[in-house]
Amino acid sequence: MTSGQGGTNPGFARGRRLRSTPAMRRWTAQTRLAPADLVLPVFVKEGISEPVPISSMPGVVQHTPESLRKAAAEAAEVGISGLMLFGIPADKDPVGSQADAADGVVNAALQQLRADLGDELVLMADLCLCEYTDHGHCGVVTPARGGLRGQGGAMVVDNDPTLDRYAAVAIAQAQAGAHVIAPSGMMDGQVAAIRAGLDSAAFTETPILAYAAKYASGFYGPFREAAEGAPQFGDRSTYQMDPPNTDEALREVAQDIAEGADAVMVKPAGPYLDIVARVADAVDVPVSAYQVSGEYAMVEAAAANGWIDRERAVLETLTAIRRAGAGSVLTYWAVEAARWLRC
Ligand code: PBG
Repeated sequence: MTSGQGGTNPGFARGRRLRSTPAMRRWTAQTRLAPADLVLPVFVKEGISEPVPISSMPGVVQHTPESLRKAAAEAAEVGISGLMLFGIPADKDPVGSQADAADGVVNAALQQLRADLGDELVLMADLCLCEYTDHGHCGVVTPARGGLRGQGGAMVVDNDPTLDRYAAVAIAQAQAGAHVIAPSGMMDGQVAAIRAGLDSAAFTETPILAYAAKYASGFYGPFREAAEGAPQFGDRSTYQMDPPNTDEALREVAQDIAEGADAVMVKPAGPYLDIVARVADAVDVPVSAYQVSGEYAMVEAAAANGWIDRERAVLETLTAIRRAGAGSVLTYWAVEAARWLRC
């Protein structure tokens, strides 16, 4: 033991010295959270005259086009970076026609928001078919044959024909005013197909944010109520990633970047912080993480019961996702958290 002043040095480090006051902790914080780190996912539904609350996600609604405009203006006002748009059409069919209909609910909303806000927010379009198909799968389906084996049914999601649909949807979304196209369907080759489609329609400057490492997760439960896209048969475990895997996430991410992804996403976020960290270490493109509906619902439910301090828990989850290495976080708390962070 070295002799300290007055003989008080006990020979161990006093970590408490740097934690003593809020100012001291602010000075030494390694991770910061700011409104600009956040992106708000929003739902817009066709054929409703008032916003519809989502019971499993208290505080989140399915918007009318008008209420969405108001929410978007608020989002811009509090300084978050962007919106991720999901549409719920009145009519669904096997190929998800409303996803690329120019007057379809999400494309009309994109057009309106772009007109309202210009480039003030990054308008991201979630690109998937599950909200638009009557069977609720993320791609077109076909009877099982040859090497395609179904999960509990005779129909399976057909990868390659889905790619043509995705390219068409990407072009429609870019035409409608989306700044970023964000494919979430986990079809192999989707980024290449979408890049080729966008380029062929002269949208060479429109970036792709790939939901690159998206797991088949139980935490999407409440979203299925919000987006009305629950699969009518089987599940998504043949195309989304298997929760036990980590190396596979790096492979998916590398492949998406090789196919032309400008930014990548890990999803869900909280239960997959190890994946966020590994991906952030491995790549040199922006990394987002999606704090999904079930993560939101768990905190809301516990807070409603008085079991946790809501604001504290929310900010802790967001900080943890940033600490793991995500540059930006998609979260249903984006606007509320931005308000907390500003004052
Ligand atoms: C579908 C999609 C899902 C989510 C975002 N896009 C659900 C799914 O894959 O089943 C989940 C988001 C959430 O739970 O908040 N393409």
